[in-house]
Amino acid sequence: MSKKLFIETLGCAMNVRDSEHMIAELSALEGYELTDDASTADLILINTCSVREKPVHKLFSELGVFNKLKKSDAKIGVCGCTASHLGKEIIKRAPYVNFVLGARNVSKISDVLHRDKAVEIEIDYDESLFAFKDFRSSPYKAYINISIGCDKQCTFCIVPKTRGDEISIPADLIVAEAQKAVECGAKEVFLLGQNVNNYGRRFSGENDKMNFTELLRRVSRVEGLERIRFTSPHQLHMDDEFIEEFARNPKICKSMHMPLQSGSSEILKAMKRGYTKEWFLNRARKLRELVPDVSISTDIIVAFPGESDADFQDTLEVMEQVKFEQVFSFKYSPRPLTEAESFTNVVDSELGSFRLSTLQAYQDTILDSISAALLGKEMEVYFEELRSDGYIAGRSDNNIMVKVKGSEELLGKIARVKITETSRSVQYGEIIA
Ligand code: 5AD
Ligand code: SF4
Repeated sequence: MSKKLFIETLGCAMNVRDSEHMIAELSALEGYELTDDASTADLILINTCSVREKPVHKLFSELGVFNKLKKSDAKIGVCGCTASHLGKEIIKRAPYVNFVLGARNVSKISDVLHRDKAVEIEIDYDESLFAFKDFRSSPYKAYINISIGCDKQCTFCIVPKTRGDEISIPADLIVAEAQKAVECGAKEVFLLGQNVNNYGRRFSGENDKMNFTELLRRVSRVEGLERIRFTSPHQLHMDDEFIEEFARNPKICKSMHMPLQSGSSEILKAMKRGYTKEWFLNRARKLRELVPDVSISTDIIVAFPGESDADFQDTLEVMEQVKFEQVFSFKYSPRPLTEAESFTNVVDSELGSFRLSTLQAYQDTILDSISAALLGKEMEVYFEELRSDGYIAGRSDNNIMVKVKGSEELLGKIARVKITETSRSVQYGEIIA
């Protein structure tokens, strides 16, 4: 009988791909099969995120729950970013944990499995050329890593300390992965990196010089591939050439993530983001000019140390001007190993919560008018998910979530849909072709 693996994945798309890599390795080398019932598992993995404090606190209570419900001889492993930054501390606080595997050490999964109390969290470890076995959670889209790590030094962010320096993966390998995905039936690839449009800054071996724009051109030449998405780009590296390629290339999906963080140039300086409010607005304007139906999403942090009411107003003003289609907003959470952790000009927590809810209510009013304007519009939707309520869900080229009544024949197909009912987060429609 095969052994059973339960895996919980928190955090970002990088973590989703890391989990896929671990599942593939454990299945090919150790004979594991996935289960969604932790109580029957022989191995329980939590792939953690440490970008904010709350999920880190939750980790230990969750570990306690898993320890109680697991089979007596089952193993528990903690992987990902919290594993990287807490390391052996995790085994100290939860002695029943069998191993700790950092976000930069995913390829060692089958090794740590056989070394009780192993802690592998080497930050300089170069996995960029490691060939993982194959596993994809969706047959319709393929996540492909194009770089690992992050060279930026944003003062609020722990990620460079959990995922290490940035290393790009050679373009030939990326193109081969995209080809393989298409051969397996995927129409869409999702290129992943902490900072994708900084691609080509550093490779681990000899490589032709290549930037992200050129990489996009190369991937788009893969025959049979219809859609290319990527995350996360950085507006600092959105030069005209990149935006023009984004606009012109029909395979590149017209949705862009532009992580604003703050609309105040002063706060952006304290965050060491490398751009100003004006630069951000200039790039967003250029994008909207060249790609009229682009959807722009963003991340915003409120109550960063030193944020005044005027700084917060600057953030609202950028929201008003750009009219983001999607906003992920967070209250600042001090993180260990970051520069901002020692900043003393902290913003009162209640004021931070007030700003967060003000910002979210404001975004809701923007979303109401964006979604109302979608009524009657037609769009090409790639259907990927059968829901239990009789609907089938997919995304338009510009990342609008659309649901239609339908059955599994639609899965993996791109169809033209007319929007008949709108809401803030999902639109309903009918297939017209
Ligand atoms: N506090 C709050 N939010 C943070 N993020 C990153 N670090 C912090 C922090 N210390 C947010 C940023 C980032 C997103 C992934 O998480 O907005 O873009
Ligand atoms: Fe979380 Fe950042 Fe690590 Fe992704 S890279 S899992 S968002 S801390």
